[in-house]
This record gives sequence, C-alpha cells and structure tokens, in this order.
Amino acid sequence: MNSNANPANEKRLAGEAAIRYVEDGAVVGVGTGSTVAFFIDALASIKDRIQGAVSSSEQSTAQLKKHGIPVFDLNATGPLALYVDGADECDPHKRLIKGGGAALTREKIIAQAAQKFVCIIDSGKRVDLLGKFPLPIEVIPMARSLIGREIVKRGGNPVWRDGVVTDNGNWIIDVHGWQIADPVTLESELNQIPGIVSVGLFARRPADVVLIGDKVM
Ligand code: A5P
Repeated sequence: MNSNANPANEKRLAGEAAIRYVEDGAVVGVGTGSTVAFFIDALASIKDRIQGAVSSSEQSTAQLKKHGIPVFDLNATGPLALYVDGADECDPHKRLIKGGGAALTREKIIAQAAQKFVCIIDSGKRVDLLGKFPLPIEVIPMARSLIGREIVKRGGNPVWRDGVVTDNGNWIIDVHGWQIADPVTLESELNQIPGIVSVGLFARRPADVVLIGDKVM
C-alpha cells in the first residue's frame, strides 16, 4: 500500500511542497484549514527569507504569529505574488469548492489579489463534477431566509450552519444537492443575489497550480 495515499500524509506533503513557490522577500497569502496548517509550519522554517504573510482567518493568523511570522493587512501590501490555500473539492479545470472552514470570503479576496494561487489538497478532494461537498455561501444574517428561498428555486437544499459566525460576523448556508456542471455561471448568478457576501465557488478565479500531496495535478 502506498503510504502517501493517507489523507493526513498527503496534506503534509502538499503543505511542504508549496514552499517551493515562495520567493525570497515575499509577502505570502495564506489560506485556512488543516492542509494550510502544514504549509504554515513549513513556512516557519524559512521565515527569515520572507517579509511575512497576509492571512485569510483568525485561525491562520494565530498560527502565523505563534511562529513569529509577521502578519500584514492586505491594504498595506498591494498585489501578492503567491496565495497558498486548501480546498474542499477540485475539478479537472482547477475550479474549487471552498469554505468548509467558513473562511471563504477572506480566502476569495486574497486569491483575487494574488498573481499565482497554489491549491494544496489530498487526493480525496479531486472530483470530476463539483457539488458532492455542500457548497458554502456566506450571507448577511438578515438575508438568510431570502437566500434560502432563492436556492430552493434553483433546485438546491440550503442548510444553515447553525451556531457558526464567520470572522466577518456573518452566517454560512451550505447548499446540498447541486451537481455543478457550469460553476462559472452559477458563481456569477449567485453573486447577484442581495445578501450573499460570497460563494464558495472558486471558478471565475480558479487555482493556477494544484498540488495533490507533492505531485502537481
Ligand atoms: C476554509 O474555509 C476552506 O476553504 C478550506 O480551505 C478547506 O475547507 C480545506 O480545508 P482542509 O485543508 O482542512 O481540508
């Protein structure tokens, strides 16, 4: 049996492999999740070579600071050369579902600000069609029911992630039951519904590089 097929091992290998994309003197965009946690640990070993990081969540900020890696505000850095983040699903076109950790909005902002988005996953995240993983959507709390009805009209089954408040003070709806054949169009359509802050589809701005363990997809 190939020991690399172990998801935790693949996450660690992917997190470590992403270090090769970090250039000297960089401010690195850093995502959120258990795979990124391995990347942050690896980043700590080269922290003297970088200026610091822009973080997508309080969780990642805490881990970066624990390692003594400076954390900057995106408004102060301008465009970033590199963003490294995990995903919940990844299709053959490097389009993603993200937001299982409820950090999708800040993740999307940093991905947009980055020239290169390196996505680090284990092989269980690879799918041909997005949607088996429920699609996370961050919503303004007062719009939760309205958005739920709009999702039902489009054939989805919205489930409120009760008790979860995002770092931005908003709520998460997870949409079950969608097989997403055209993620670019769905992302654009959902972005038009008032009250949706962001959609966990990363299709209009997909990943540039996907590392499955230490292998480039
Ligand atoms: C956080 O909101 C998510 O987008 C994560 O990137 C995603 O859930 C992957 O997490 P793991 O690396 O823990 O699987």
